[in-house]
Amino acid sequence: MSNISIIGTGNMARTIGARAIAGGNTVEVMGRNQPKAADLAKALGGGATTGEWGTAPAGDIVIVALLHDGVVPAVAQYGDALAGKVIVDISNPFNSTFDGLAHREQTSIAQEVAKAAPAGASVVKAFNTIFRHVLEKGRPDVFLAGDNAQAKARVEAFVESLGLRPLDVGGLRMAHWLEGAGVVTVGLANHGVGNLDFALGITELPVSE
Ligand SMILES: NC(=O)c1ccc[n+]([C@@H]2O[C@H](COP(=O)([O-])OP(=O)(O)OC[C@H]3O[C@@H](n4cnc5c(N)ncnc54)[C@H](OP(=O)(O)O)[C@@H]3O)[C@@H](O)[C@H]2O)c1
Repeated sequence: MSNISIIGTGNMARTIGARAIAGGNTVEVMGRNQPKAADLAKALGGGATTGEWGTAPAGDIVIVALLHDGVVPAVAQYGDALAGKVIVDISNPFNSTFDGLAHREQTSIAQEVAKAAPAGASVVKAFNTIFRHVLEKGRPDVFLAGDNAQAKARVEAFVESLGLRPLDVGGLRMAHWLEGAGVVTVGLANHGVGNLDFALGITELPVSE
């Protein structure tokens, strides 16, 4: 069981929160709009609580479920309240035409979060390649990236509690490519697949001798 705090009260906060509770984890919801956070905690049930925006989260794992341009400012605003936490960035910084990233440099929101996070916090990128409704109903693979092995192990244990398979893609610099994979997912939805009812995943073949 993990203790999770979710910063955000939107669709992904609701979906991850619901799965987290179904998986036997504790959930705290924090939103810049306190009544929205309280409403979401109530809707989630399962003992979900509400925390005050900007204060120390109760959870050891803090999932930041905000629109991409709000993620780094929120982490900076929380500041030392996030010391020692595992911060999970799930954002997709799409450009305005959804065929590229909003940042021009080879960085990622997760890497920028790591720069803004207090000492002792670790950042993991996860969940961004999965459409919300697929996460709600399906059993998609969850790709994750991060520099701290212990932090990744904790997020992996959380992902497993949701009944999903975590797949480590490497260090935090790989978050840039996970964000690129988010762009690929949208491209597939708009072209080759033609709908949103799928997820990127790994098919393993028998290991050759
Ligand atoms: N939806 C998906 O299928 C999906 C899939 C993978 C990843 N993601 C990523 O997950 C994140 C959340 O997506 P979502 O679908 O949950 O979005 P959403 O339903 O629009 O919710 C966005 C949340 O962010 C908050 N917010 C927005 N700008 C903010 C700011 N500047 N400062 C503080 N809070 C801010 C909103 O608060 P208010 O309600 O107060 O405005 C709301 O709680 C995004 O980064 C998205 O790229 C989404």
